[in-house]
Amino acid sequence: MTRAVVPGSFDPVTYGHLDIIQRARRLFDEVVVAVLENHSKQFLFPVEERVEMLKEVTKDWPGVTVDYFSGLLVTYMKKVSARVIVRGLRALSDYEYELQMALTNHELDEEVETIFLASSAHYSFLSSRMVKEVASMGGKISDFVPPYVEQKLKAKFKERG
Ligand code: PNS
Repeated sequence: MTRAVVPGSFDPVTYGHLDIIQRARRLFDEVVVAVLENHSKQFLFPVEERVEMLKEVTKDWPGVTVDYFSGLLVTYMKKVSARVIVRGLRALSDYEYELQMALTNHELDEEVETIFLASSAHYSFLSSRMVKEVASMGGKISDFVPPYVEQKLKAKFKERG
């Protein structure tokens, strides 16, 4: 039984994330989606809402569970007895940050390995940051996020005024 962790902020989850989660699940028996709960980072959605959205949109996916973590990712990896981190790589611009994280995590715990999946070309431009920007200005986001997340984003920006 191999378990992989797909960590991230997921603020909010996009079709790009879901593509990586689904493809990670084809490679590993179990995939734990681990949402970062970090109070120093400015998130649009609190961790409970980011987790809830992910649970909703992955509810019919066997072998995929959603959890949250704070502190170091390598500590969380030990807690859930997983050694593999899966991250999506979109463009060259992701590479430096991703390599830095992968090397840091490996340095902190040599048991932990990071594997990268090349983002599907269709989603290679997609980011939560862009989705939030488009949503905040009333643009169309139905190609970027599932309908459930679209509703949550619309409600969030309505609530903020
Ligand atoms: O979706 P993101 O924001 O690119 O995800 C980043 C994440 C959550 C994977 C990263 O910030 C993380 O693992 N944070 C936990 C703190 C940690 O372990 N830092 C040391 C390794 S960089």
